[in-house]
Amino acid sequence: MILKSKDIIGLYDMEADEISYILDSAATMKQLLLQNAKKMPHLQGKSIVSLFYENSTRTRLSFELAAKYLGATFSNLGVSTSSVNKGETLLDTGKTIEAMGTDIIVIRHPLAGAPKFLGDNFSGHVINAGDGMHEHPTQALLDMFTMKEKFGRIKGLSVAIIGDISHSRVARSNLWGLTKLGAKVTLCGMDTMMPPGIGQTDAIVTNDIKEAIRDTDVIMALRIQKERLESEFFPSIREYHKFFGINEDVLKICGKDVLIMHPGPVNRGVELSSAVIDADFSAINTQVTNGVAIRMALLYILTRRKNDDA
Ligand code: NCD
Repeated sequence: MILKSKDIIGLYDMEADEISYILDSAATMKQLLLQNAKKMPHLQGKSIVSLFYENSTRTRLSFELAAKYLGATFSNLGVSTSSVNKGETLLDTGKTIEAMGTDIIVIRHPLAGAPKFLGDNFSGHVINAGDGMHEHPTQALLDMFTMKEKFGRIKGLSVAIIGDISHSRVARSNLWGLTKLGAKVTLCGMDTMMPPGIGQTDAIVTNDIKEAIRDTDVIMALRIQKERLESEFFPSIREYHKFFGINEDVLKICGKDVLIMHPGPVNRGVELSSAVIDADFSAINTQVTNGVAIRMALLYILTRRKNDDA
């Protein structure tokens, strides 16, 4: 199967069968990872550059490892030490990377739309590794992969996404992806954490944590986005944990075993208690492993697309 678009910008524009295809390909990649295969030829001769205008640990590193495990050349443009600091535009930076024969650029940028703009002006492929409050498609794909691995399906699953929905690109990408594959998504947070227009989506919206998690299969807690808050919209961190923090007491409300997820980095004791983070039913470390598998799959699918087109 060939993806419709040459770039991975978001799940809003992706078809359900494209998402399923990526999840299936990641399952194959995960098998290779489990066999400890870290020097494979799938991307031999391909060159990948990461361009991160915002901080990252897992996303950037997992793209790098995914590229290297599949045999590609991978370089990271350290934005803080590059000519970006001398005022170079995103377009000029993109053209420079293009002139060096790069096949894929992985970009994270604080402005929504920056990866799309780059993709429209770059002949290779662009992967959005998070653009402002817009989308983070590879995170949502790895989250969906983790759910599918645990429950064997996405269709019919109940997923509660808890916290600062308004500032969260992770919540948006998960909402689009999960609803396309038939999951029921509940968004829970204070009214001040809900984006305008959320009522027009397929999500159930509530500010009552008990209602959100009562019969849920998955709880996905979101990080408080301190860097994106213009002003405080809840009285204190303690207050936040009291109403929306997930700890063992709160989990007693759930009617069944529940999978705990968080995209990381976690503020321990805020979104999740330490005991919950480290519990057996927490998928946080599995999410990190699955992030490598999803990125291997995407890099492979995109480069094959180019060969198929040729
Ligand atoms: C997320 C991000 O950067 O959007 N983190 C990640 O990619 N693992 C979530 C976050 O930073 O809160």
